[in-house]
Amino acid sequence: MSLDQLDAQGRLRHLLTLEGLPRQTLLRLLDRAEALRPHAFGGTALRGALAGTALCTLFFEPSTRTRSSFWLAAQRLGADVLNFDASTSSTSKGETAADTLRNLEAMGVRGFVVRHREDGAVAALATAAAPGTVLVNAGDGRSAHPTQGLLDMLTLRQAKGADFARLKVLIVGDVKHSRVARSDLHALRTLGAGEIRVCGPRTLLPEDPATLAGCTVGHDLDAALEGVDAVMMLRLQRERMQEGLVASLEEYHRDYGLTAARLRRAAPDAVVLHPGPMNRGVEITDEVADGPQSRILQQVGNGVAVRMAVLEALLAA
Ligand code: NCD
Repeated sequence: MSLDQLDAQGRLRHLLTLEGLPRQTLLRLLDRAEALRPHAFGGTALRGALAGTALCTLFFEPSTRTRSSFWLAAQRLGADVLNFDASTSSTSKGETAADTLRNLEAMGVRGFVVRHREDGAVAALATAAAPGTVLVNAGDGRSAHPTQGLLDMLTLRQAKGADFARLKVLIVGDVKHSRVARSDLHALRTLGAGEIRVCGPRTLLPEDPATLAGCTVGHDLDAALEGVDAVMMLRLQRERMQEGLVASLEEYHRDYGLTAARLRRAAPDAVVLHPGPMNRGVEITDEVADGPQSRILQQVGNGVAVRMAVLEALLAA
C-alpha cells in the first residue's frame, strides 16, 4: 500500500500508518515523545507551540484513551480543540465524512484526528482534504492505529532499551481484527526486533501471509511465552463470539488468557502491554494487569507524549 503521508522532501504531511514509515522518522518521533514526557502531565511551557491552530477530533467510533490523550496533547501544545462526535452530529442525518471535514476546514480547522470503522477511511479523507490540512489516523477498521504503535514502541524502549535486535516480543490474541497489532508489527519490523512471535486461535489469526511476514506463528500460548522479553496482549473483541470465531469466554481464557502462572514462562523481567480496553478475567487476569510486570498504565501516559510529538511534527510552524 503506498500512501502519501510524506511530502517530496520526505517530511511527514499526515500520519496514516506506520507501514513504510522510514526508521529515522519513527525514531525521531519516539525521541521527541521521550523529551516531551515531562510536559505531557502538566504545565504551560509549550502552550505557544500550536497557539492559534484549530484541531478537531473526529470520531466515528467509540474511544476512551485515544481521544482523551489527543485532547490533552493538543491542549498542552496550546491548540484550540474541537470535538466532533458522530452520534450527535449531522452524520446521523446522512452527511458524508468528507463533507463534514470540508465544513470544519471552512471554519479554519487545520488538523483532524480521525477514527473510523472502515479500513482506509482516514486515507480517503486525506485525499479529500485541502492542501494545508493535516490528518492523523486514530484507528481505521482493522488497518492501522499508528499512534498506538508508537506509544507501544516507546513503552518497550523505556523498559528494554533501544536495541530491539535483542528482543523477543510476543503478540497474543485477535491479530486478525486488530489495527493495533498491525501497527505494532510494522513498527517492530522497522525497529529490527530480534524475534516476533504471534499466538492466537487459528480463527483469529490473519489469513493473508503478508501481515505475519517474518513472525513465528503458534497456537499454544505456553510454548509461545517461553523466554520472551515482552508480551503484547490484545483485547478479545466480544463481537467475534457472535461470529462463532471463539467458542466461549471461558475457553478463550483457558487457552489464551495471560495468568501470573503462565507469565513465569517468559523472561523474569518480561513486561506486559495491553492497548485497552481490557477484558479482565478473559485475555488477562487482574494479577497480571495490576502486577509488577504490567506497563499498561505507562502506555497510557506515553500516549499523551507520543500524540504531542505527532501533532507538533505535523502542525507546528
Ligand atoms: C484499541 C482500538 O480501538 O483500536 N484501543 C485503543 O485505541 N487503545 C484496541 C481495541 O479496541 O481493542
